[in-house]
Amino acid sequence: MGVDIRRSTLFDGLSDEAFSVIKQAFRSINLAPGQVLFEASEPGHALYLIRRGKVKISHANLDGKEKLLAFLNPGDIFGEMSLVDESPRSARAVAVEASALFALYKQEYFLLIERFPLLAHNLARILAQRLREMNREAEVLTFEESRGKVAYALLKLYRHQYGEKTSQGRLMKLTQRELSELAATSRETVTRVVAELIERGVLKGGVGSIEVLDVATLEKVLYDLE
Ligand code: CMP
Repeated sequence: MGVDIRRSTLFDGLSDEAFSVIKQAFRSINLAPGQVLFEASEPGHALYLIRRGKVKISHANLDGKEKLLAFLNPGDIFGEMSLVDESPRSARAVAVEASALFALYKQEYFLLIERFPLLAHNLARILAQRLREMNREAEVLTFEESRGKVAYALLKLYRHQYGEKTSQGRLMKLTQRELSELAATSRETVTRVVAELIERGVLKGGVGSIEVLDVATLEKVLYDLE
C-alpha cells in the first residue's frame, strides 16, 4: 500500500517502460516513528520518495534551536539537493510516524539520467517549485504581520495535504510550538492568533492538533483582507 508514485512529478512525461526501469533502481526503506534518516551537514548519497508516512525536515538555527522547515507527505521528494550539488545535507530528516520510502542512490541516478534525461529535467522542476515556494515564503515572513504568517503556515500545510481530511476540513497534528516555528513568530503570537481564528470558526483547536475549517477566510487573513 501507499501512494501511487507513478504520479510523482519525477516521472512526468516518462513512458511506462521507462518508469519500470527507474523503479527497479529504487531501494525500499522503512523508518520507525522518530527515526532519524539523516542529520544536517552529513554527506548525502541518495534522494527519497515518500510512499507512506510523514517526514519532518528541520534545521538547527544559529542559536541552536531546532526550526521546523516542513512536514513532507506521501508523494513528496526530498534529499535531492545534496544529490544534485554534492554539498552536505542542508537539513535533518526524521520520520514523524512509521514511514516507507524509496531511495535512489547517486550512482543509479547518474546512470538513469543518461538513459532518461527527462528524469533530470523533472528533478530540476521539483527544485524550481521549491524555490518558488521559498521565495513566496521569504516574502510572507518579511512583510506580513503575524496573523498573515500564521495563516500562511497553515495554508502551506493544507495545500501540502498534511494531516487527515475530515468532513469539515483538514485535521493536522500540530503543536503551537511547531506552528510558531513554521510561521517564524513567537508562541504567544501563535496562541493569540489561533484563539482569534478559533473564535471566528476558521479553525478548531484540539490537544496537539488544529483543524482547518475555512480555507477561504484563512486566505483573506493572509492577504490582510479580513
Ligand atoms: P538535502 O539538502 O539533500 O537534505 C535535506 C533535504 O530537505 C533537502 O535536500 C531538501 O530535499 C529538503 N528541504 C530543505 N529545505 C526544505 C524546505 N524549506 N522545505 C521543504 N524541504 C526542504
